[in-house]
Amino acid sequence: MMSESLATVSYIGATILFILSLGGLSNPETSRRGNLYGMLGMTIAVLATVFGPRVTMAGLPWIIGAMVVGGSIGLYAARKVQMTQMPELVALMHSLVGLAACLVGFANYIDPMASMHLSSAEKAIHEIEVYIGILIGAVTFSGSLIAFGKLAGKIGGKPLLLPGRHFLNLIGLLVVIAFGYVFLQAESIDAGMFALTVMTVIALLFGIHMVMAIGGADMPVVVSMLNSYSGWAAAATGFMLNNDLLIVTGALVGSSGAILSYIMCRAMNRNFLSVIAGGFGSGGGTPAKKGDDQPAGEVVPISAAETAELLASAKNVIIVPGYGMAVAQAQHTVNEITQFLREKGVNVRFGIHPVAGRMPGHMNVLLAEAKVPYDIVMEMDEINADFPDTDVSIVIGANDIVNPAAQEEPGSPIAGMPVLEVWKAKTSIVMKRSMASGYAGVDNPLFYKENNRMLFGDAKKMLDEVLVALKA
Ligand code: TAP
Repeated sequence: MMSESLATVSYIGATILFILSLGGLSNPETSRRGNLYGMLGMTIAVLATVFGPRVTMAGLPWIIGAMVVGGSIGLYAARKVQMTQMPELVALMHSLVGLAACLVGFANYIDPMASMHLSSAEKAIHEIEVYIGILIGAVTFSGSLIAFGKLAGKIGGKPLLLPGRHFLNLIGLLVVIAFGYVFLQAESIDAGMFALTVMTVIALLFGIHMVMAIGGADMPVVVSMLNSYSGWAAAATGFMLNNDLLIVTGALVGSSGAILSYIMCRAMNRNFLSVIAGGFGSGGGTPAKKGDDQPAGEVVPISAAETAELLASAKNVIIVPGYGMAVAQAQHTVNEITQFLREKGVNVRFGIHPVAGRMPGHMNVLLAEAKVPYDIVMEMDEINADFPDTDVSIVIGANDIVNPAAQEEPGSPIAGMPVLEVWKAKTSIVMKRSMASGYAGVDNPLFYKENNRMLFGDAKKMLDEVLVALKA
């Protein structure tokens, strides 16, 4: 077994590696290294904990058994999950962090060893840690489960807006504070457990209510917000267990999740507090429609061969990928077409919306996997002004992120969200299978614009046809 000082040094090493990991993940070119640092840090952290001074020989088989079971489930899930299901998996993982914080909190409270040598002031602080830890854990747990349901399409994307919902939340908060007082004053474990249980039930309901009230269009913010909560839940667990590494790691995850949520809110022109308060994505009362909207005008279809002709004769092309490219796994064909056109002297670039796909950086990951050069992959703000000078903008399985309703229809559920202005190109081509709406469930006036063409079909299949036509 490891000495206390060696465990501490290992923890410091792991902390440094986690910070380096976050730094690496901020750029596609260094992200592999970032992941490697993270994996190394986590290995050191786990080894230093399992073989550290706090674990007795008698406890070791239990820990190893739990690691084998948990690790196998994790390995199975990671191998089986499709890239497009990643956000659901992440939401489910967040729920486990919340659940762990709750279980550790309850176990810590009833464990007589946990507070045996504490003075009364220290005991009060310990109990506050337990109470807050379970509170954050329960909100994270139930909120993440609902987010999982929404992302997996098992629960509808439409926000559930209960009458007087802010009032309900406020009452919940007051009850939680009141029972916090009861908990701290409790004379017996039973009385304390009662207060803890009431608070946990309210926190679970609050988590459900909070995420149910958020509209489909704002789910990206919720996912990163729950990511942040899971970090704070882990930090709270660290306080309960007196584990410095867990506190630091939790704080890193918590604060980076909060920064990401803020960045996403800015990208979607949303007010952070309003998103948390819920009801966004509902367009102030216009319910988001799902699926099969009726066409609101005439659309002009185009064939793969005509698309190839337009692309080959263009000087400037901007490709806007979205969720459909991920579903169709069309990124490799996109890269081949890009290479072909660039060899012919066409200036091809990519426009990436911050919430394209279903998770932050979704498109960047896919394009990097297909080996599209980083220097032609531009962020929305870098490329939006260039559409008027573009001959062809080609939208591959994207919908909400190129929806002009965000600018033109103040009542739209996505009103105010910055979008890629593909319709300003000479010709825009939208590649998708049908007239169905995207994640936010709103109709897209882009399809009916005069200079827009629709290339109907699976993105991979259609792009293969375009590539064949280009080569011919
Ligand atoms: P969406 O608006 O969801 O549109 C994707 C489009 O792809 C659909 O309209 C669909 O139309 C088409 N499609 C699906 N499968 C296809 C296939 N095999 N071949 C061709 N097309 C296919 O996606 P987006 O434009 O990327 O926008 C992202 C949306 O997701 C935003 O509303 C965003 O808020 C939300 N969201 C984002 C995140 C993050 S963090 N990025 C997380 C959760 C939610 P057809 O069915 O007609 O083919």
